[in-house]
Amino acid sequence: MKIITGQKGKLKGLKVLLRLDLNVPLEDGRMRDNFKIEKIITTIGFLKREGAKIIILSHIGRSGLDSLAPVCEYLKKFFAVDFAGDIFNDNAEEVVAKMRVGEIIMLENLRQYESEKNNELRFAEKLASLGDLYVNDAFAVSHRPHASIVGLPKLLDSYFGPLFERELEELKRISLSARPRLFVLGGDKSKTKMSFARKFLEMADFVFVGGALANDFFRSRGFETGQSLVSAEDFDFEDLLENGRIILPVDVVVENGKGVQTKKPNEVLPDERIADAGPETVLRLKKMIGNSKFVLWNGPLGDYPRGFSDATFEFIRALAEGRAEVIAGGGDTEHCISKLGLEEKFDFISTGGGALLEFVATGTLAGIKALQGKM
Ligand code: 3PG
Repeated sequence: MKIITGQKGKLKGLKVLLRLDLNVPLEDGRMRDNFKIEKIITTIGFLKREGAKIIILSHIGRSGLDSLAPVCEYLKKFFAVDFAGDIFNDNAEEVVAKMRVGEIIMLENLRQYESEKNNELRFAEKLASLGDLYVNDAFAVSHRPHASIVGLPKLLDSYFGPLFERELEELKRISLSARPRLFVLGGDKSKTKMSFARKFLEMADFVFVGGALANDFFRSRGFETGQSLVSAEDFDFEDLLENGRIILPVDVVVENGKGVQTKKPNEVLPDERIADAGPETVLRLKKMIGNSKFVLWNGPLGDYPRGFSDATFEFIRALAEGRAEVIAGGGDTEHCISKLGLEEKFDFISTGGGALLEFVATGTLAGIKALQGKM
């Protein structure tokens, strides 16, 4: 593996295109969480000390409408960083040309360009023209075949960053972990996560499916899901529904605008919305944790951003008190753990959610293959 820290002493004056994942949740334009940012301070510090000219590339949000400006402001607590804006409309090229040794600039959200998401060669070439070499320290987005992830390594001398290296090192522990193993999948993004469900069943003894992912299973069973968050796609879960090692919530907390109540998943009414896992489900999960030697967890069990955090918080406390080795990952997942101040109780918290699961299931990611010249 080519790691940028192996290039110590050779980076002075080189323009480094540093792909980071600064996709942090924003609330009223302000950052709600700084976990991902704190993780890459070492990387930036290393490049700066080496005298590289650092050009930070990242995305934020899905739509391409959010700005990285608040993240840039936050980074200023650690380094002098200039926000160079849009590479096409602002004067980013001019700014890059004038950069001095150790200077840091940040470009605007790459997802504002469709050509980033479509991995268009011309876009990757435009980015590549700004730098001398490329560093990918964005494990959490390296499952996306976007231009800044898979296009750039084809055009520039390329390296993994130290955070990426650490993620891969820590995640090796999953396949070596003791059994019984429990995987707990929550949050949303069924399309990304459930495509690996069959592989997870090979790797784990039990797979608990919660959060909005469970709603897709309920729908597949023919249950009414009312106003709950469900995927746009219809999934073929038939074999999974039959599998006794896939565990779904046995009760759910629903809201209907007038109040909340707990009921069985098959009792949800058309005007109700599933908002959390119920207490009986949490009890079952606690028992499962007690019987497991290893737990992998991604994604809250309820609609956490809207305040439905009871099941997730109880689950986290049970993990923290339990004896199983635990690896967790993903933005909301980490945010919930840090709200309770229980980070230290976890064996490892990955920056990746979807990327973590894809890496666990397949042993690689689009960004890894690209950097190793296999894509
Ligand atoms: C993440 O937070 O999981 C990464 O930044 C990837 O985001 P995405 O799912 O929008 O590609």
